Amino acid sequence: MVKVIMGGEAEVRIHDSFVEKIRIRKRYRIKELDDFLRRRRTISEARIISNARKHGVATPVILDVDDCRIVMERIDGEPVREIMNRDVSREIGKGVAKLHSAGIVHGDLTPMNMILKNGRIYFIDFGLSYYDERVEAKGVDIHVFYEALKADFDNWGELWEAFLEGYSEYGKFSHVLERFREIEMRGRYVDKSENRS
Ligand SMILES: Nc1ncnc2c1ncn2[C@@H]1O[C@H](COP(=O)(O)OP(=O)(O)O)[C@@H](O)[C@H]1O
Ligand SMILES: [Mg+2]
Repeated sequence: MVKVIMGGEAEVRIHDSFVEKIRIRKRYRIKELDDFLRRRRTISEARIISNARKHGVATPVILDVDDCRIVMERIDGEPVREIMNRDVSREIGKGVAKLHSAGIVHGDLTPMNMILKNGRIYFIDFGLSYYDERVEAKGVDIHVFYEALKADFDNWGELWEAFLEGYSEYGKFSHVLERFREIEMRGRYVDKSENRS
């Protein structure tokens, strides 16, 4: 049995032991440009998944890359969304600390893109990932996770605290946290001015 998940960018086919992620055509883009962009994103995603693994972050093993398709190990574990607790959130923080130490910004840090297997948090979906050493990019990265916790869990406050305990393993932790607070303030200011108009 193959389970097919259609996303905005890709079709994901879940087989018993492997997963195919195929970037789908964007009809509004001219074909040549679309082919080029999809190929480039596919190669970039596969490279970052492998590179993260080399830096000690649990990610699927890449089995093959061709054209607009990545074939990778299937992580047959529990979706993080269903088993979230303080310990899980702390482990996520440790994983993000390793990603950021390696200069990798994930770009879509939500519980949907994490799987728990054998006590390890696997990060998947590096479709929006890139290399960036700026504090701003990392601050935005953890802000995405913060917003996801707030949206999904009533006890988001303690989950966020646990995440930061784990993330504090990152050398530039305090700089990123400071920037995170600024980003959070900017967001509030924008929300308020939108309400006024
Ligand atoms: N290697 C994998 N092992 C197990 N499940 C996976 C794997 N890759 C993707 N999935 C499942 O497919 C879903 C969509 O894949 P994802 O890479 O997040 O694509 P999208 O960019 O469309 O969000 C994930 O949320 C997850 O449930
Ligand atoms: Mg995803």
